[in-house]
Amino acid sequence: MISSLFNTWAQGARTRQPAANLPSVPDRRFGLTQHGRRLDPNTPPHRQTPPGPTLTEIPEHLLKRAKAAKAKAAGADAPAADSPAAPVEAVPAAPVAETKSTPPAEIPPEPVAPYMAAADVRKKIPWWAAGALLLLPIWAISYVGTLERPPQEATGILAEGQHIYETRCASCHGANGGGGSGYKLADGEVLITFPTLEPMIEWLAKGSAGIGLGNPYGDPARGRIVAGGMPGWADILTTEELIGVVLHERAAFGGSEEALLQAEAIEYAVEMGELDLQGHLDPSTLTVAEIQAILAAVGEDGSDS
Ligand code: HEC
Repeated sequence: MISSLFNTWAQGARTRQPAANLPSVPDRRFGLTQHGRRLDPNTPPHRQTPPGPTLTEIPEHLLKRAKAAKAKAAGADAPAADSPAAPVEAVPAAPVAETKSTPPAEIPPEPVAPYMAAADVRKKIPWWAAGALLLLPIWAISYVGTLERPPQEATGILAEGQHIYETRCASCHGANGGGGSGYKLADGEVLITFPTLEPMIEWLAKGSAGIGLGNPYGDPARGRIVAGGMPGWADILTTEELIGVVLHERAAFGGSEEALLQAEAIEYAVEMGELDLQGHLDPSTLTVAEIQAILAAVGEDGSDS
């Protein structure tokens, strides 16, 4: 009876294929592993740790996969029988104990892009260049520093006029023309009193005393009457300095673009030797007509007339 039972089992064991992709588990019924190893008889079967899968067995699906890979490498594009949709991101480390065998499809090697290949092949930056690259920002900063123009001494008749204003006029008319003991010149006030250049030069050259107390000066519409207190400057300042300070006031406090053009034209005329402004005007004989005659050599648009 027992021997016939054993025979039946042995036959079954021979024919029964262990599920290829299942780790061998102990056959608790007989206290044996699938591979016939006797388990420790003193330990109850359910406490036994099953031995790991044997290395000699190659699961069927792996064989299939290898075959498919080989076929692919050979150029045949016939897919493996049981890898239809070829899931690309199949879990690569899928445990062998999958009930349904869907082997992860072989990921074909990505074709190397030409630029990647070129990057691999071309020469890399040599180590000594790293030092040079590190110094580059320092060089750039110092180079930019050399590009900055050194603070330039302001030149030209307008700059000269600004200097005269600061040293001779600001004390009474304010540093920015805001006024003081003398009238406010800023915010265009100076242009309201003197819409044109020549009468202003005359006023500056003569001053309150030169024009005479009680006499009108400037634009009649403004209605200025000499009250005294403004010095005459003809003996102190050269003609160029006089014209310069007048143009500076008109440009800086009056926003006159015409003054800028006049300054340019005068500078050009002086440079060309057509105008000499180094002398002093005679306040006792000076007229607006005389000033106009002096400036006649100057083209209003800066061109040589
Ligand atoms: C000592 C003070 C003082 C100084 C310095 C002075 N001014 Fe005057 N300025 C006056 C006074 C006061 C008046 C008004 C004169 C009058 O009413 O007679 C005046 C009037 C003027 C006016 C006419 C303004 C208007 O709207 O009526 C101008 C322009 C002017 N000064 C320019 C200048 C310039 C340019 C300088 C420098 C070169 C200068 N002043 C230096 C006191 C001064």
